[in-house]
Formats: sequence, structure tokens, C-alpha cells
Amino acid sequence: MTQSVATIAESFRARTARSRELYEGGTSYTAGPAKGAYYYRPYPLTMDRGEGTRLWDVDGNAYLDCANHHTAQVLGHNHPRVMEAVYAQIPRGLAVGAPMGTEAPIAEEMCRRVDSLDRIRFVNSGTEATLHAIRLARGFTGKTKIAKFEGGYHGSHDPVEVSVAPPLAKAGPAHAPNSVPGAGGSSPSVADEVLILPYNDEEAVERLIVENRDDLACVIFDPKCGILRIRPEFAQAVRRITRENGVLLIFDEIVAFRTAPGGLQAVLGIDPDLTCFGKIVGGGFPVGAFGGRADLMDLLDSSKPGTGFSQSGTFSAHPLAMAAGLAMLQELTPEACDHLNRLGDRLTNGLKRMFARERIVAQAVNTGSVFSIYFGDHELRNYRDLAALDSSLVSPTFLALLEEGYFLGHTLGMCALSVPMTDSDIDGLIEATGRAIARAQAE
Ligand SMILES: Cc1ncc(COP(=O)(O)O)c(C=O)c1O
Repeated sequence: MTQSVATIAESFRARTARSRELYEGGTSYTAGPAKGAYYYRPYPLTMDRGEGTRLWDVDGNAYLDCANHHTAQVLGHNHPRVMEAVYAQIPRGLAVGAPMGTEAPIAEEMCRRVDSLDRIRFVNSGTEATLHAIRLARGFTGKTKIAKFEGGYHGSHDPVEVSVAPPLAKAGPAHAPNSVPGAGGSSPSVADEVLILPYNDEEAVERLIVENRDDLACVIFDPKCGILRIRPEFAQAVRRITRENGVLLIFDEIVAFRTAPGGLQAVLGIDPDLTCFGKIVGGGFPVGAFGGRADLMDLLDSSKPGTGFSQSGTFSAHPLAMAAGLAMLQELTPEACDHLNRLGDRLTNGLKRMFARERIVAQAVNTGSVFSIYFGDHELRNYRDLAALDSSLVSPTFLALLEEGYFLGHTLGMCALSVPMTDSDIDGLIEATGRAIARAQAE
């Protein structure tokens, strides 16, 4: 641990004794006291409650929530309309082993909003959504291989965990990346089934897809919302290349769907064959969804036997998630999306000015209300550019921002604003970030 981390960390410890107690007391019955994404050094905060734009930890410290449950809580916490929908649903029964009429209205709302959706199916997580969309693409095309982008994240099943964060020593040439298995225990054959594409290199993407087109069922495309600067012409090229080569395009809107009522695909001007959703679609409950062309999705229709396809799950389309998700979507009006996008631009423009004024070598990227802060000033076009960033200031800046009263993602990546936030929340965050970085640098 560097000196700067130790000093800021000491001050973190002093104000979060109860969090520490709960973390260290933890339990020996869970596999680690905090789930993977929650862990950071010296230990993760335990939150007591959330309300609107704020969180309170168990020691009584308040934070402006700039992470919003991995981007899912787009309305902030306990939005009255969402809570009303939940409280109306609870007395009807939590899970009754039959449809409760809660799925059709949100399905209709989604298909009305997103042009490329003829049909949709709800599951319990983004991971399940990408799993089923890929399986459908393979079954429909009769081809086995899939392609994904180097550094793209689509959840935690074997093929999509390939080359999420490959060590550069194993990653191969930038224009023809190696397929590097991710999670331990993945099937040994998985690397052979996944073609890895480089972001923002149309020429390489076209060459690799043309070379593999006879074996390739689909390209799954995570646009890296709020992580890389998104170039619409690149997304449009991926759409054109997949279509010209008989390869299905699965677009991952699991984070991006908050950008516009019709999703990021409407902003980019692309029409994927299948799209995966999650996060905001469940109104704060576990959810995933996938949908798209009727000729693909209808293969899952149980009233049409003999298709050979199926998708099922005990808690799929859970009534509480459906009711809360519909309420959340109804609140995410075009005006709400515009407000969020304007706040996101205000934040990154303000951070840029502040970095220049304070001579801080850093940059901020946003796609609407999803944003990341990076240390380094080189252009960020792909995974390898991200891997070349300096990470030494990330942890002390995150901890110093907590002390300022701002809760960001602990990597300072894929943070998210919420609808009830105001310009003054954003301006406060910009100034606090300047102070936090100065402190991280000085110690
Ligand atoms: C772009 C993207 N796709 C897929 C997923 C997986 O979703 P889930 O965590 O609900 O399984 C995530 C999760 O963060 C994501 O960011």
C-alpha cells in the first residue's frame, strides 16, 4: 500500500468503524464477506439506507450516490411511483406459479419504445439475457462460433467471459486479438468458440468477420457506454458488416438503455437482430430481458411446439420486478432522459475545465448519464488504451471522494447519475473531485 493510500485510508477507517466491524465480523459461511463487485480496500462500506439521490452508511455518513447500483437505479432510491407499484403488488402474492398480468404491460412498453423489438422475454439477470440471446442465435443460424469485442462485458457465463480483461502479454496483436479464457473453470473449448474483435477498428472487424463468416452465428456488442467514447459510425459499420455476412447482431443495452427512450440503438441509428436488457428494466429488482425479430423470438413460443428451443426459469418475469420496472420506465420520459444526458455532459465538461485549471492529467468520458474518470491523457479507443492508464490514484481518489460525501464506483468507472439530481449536485461533484485528486496526489 502506498503512503497516499494509507493516509487517506486511515481517515476512512476513523469514520467508518461500524462498517469495518460488520465487514470483519462478516461470516465464515459466505464465500468472502462482500460479493465480487462490492469489494475494495481497505473494506467496503455497509449502507444502511438510500433515499432519493442519497445513501447513508451504518456509521451515519451521507453520500450523493453517483453509482446508483451499478447504473440500475436511474430514478435514485425509493421513487414514490416505483414504491407505489411495489406496494400494490405485494399483497397479491409474491410468486404464484402462474402469470399475474404484470409481464404483458412492460413487454408492450418495451416494444413500443424500441424499434427493433417485435417480441421480448424477461429473465432474472443480464447474464441470463446474453446467454439465451446467444443460444438463440446459434440455434437459428446453425453456426457455433460467436464474436465479442476485446474488453466487452456481458455477464458471467463461459463464452462472454473470454477476453474481458486479458493480460496484455497474452492478448496478441491489436488488429487480431487472441481469445483468452477468463474465469477459472470455464470449459477448455470456450476460447476456440469465441472470435475476439478490436473496438473502433472497422477494417480489422470486417476482415475478421469475413474470414469467419461460415462459422459465425453472431456478434455480441457491448458499446462500452460511459467507458469509451462511442462513435456512431463504428456501431453502424458493425451493423453493416454483420448484415452483409449473414451474421446476427446482438446489441447489449444492459447499461445503455437509460440513454434514450428507444435505447442507445436509437441514438446510434442501428437495428440489431436481438437486444439484451437488464438493470433499469427491473425497477431495482433482479431482471434481464432479451428480444428482437419475431422470426427469432417466436422460436421460444411454447404454444408452437416442435421448434426445439426453450427458455424457462422459476423466477423469470417476477411480478415485483415487472411492476417496479414498468413504473420506472414510465418515469423515464424523453424529458427525464434529456435531463440526465445534460447532467452527464455538464459533469464531463466541468471536469475537463477543472483538470485543465488544476493541471491534473486526467480525463472524463460520458455516454449520457454514465461516466468514468481516468488518469492519463491519451486517446481511449479500445481495451488496450484503457489497460495503459495509470491506476495508482484511483483508490485514494475514490476514498477521498467518500470523505467529501460522494459515492462513486470504486474503480471510478461506469458511475451513473440519477433523475432527481440537479446542476448544483454536479457542480459540487466536480469541485470535490478536484479536491480529492489534489489530496491523493499530495499525500
Ligand atoms: C454491459 C453489461 N452487460 C451485461 C451485464 C451482466 O448483467 P448482470 O450483472 O445483471 O448479470 C452487465 C453487468 O454489469 C453489463 O454491464
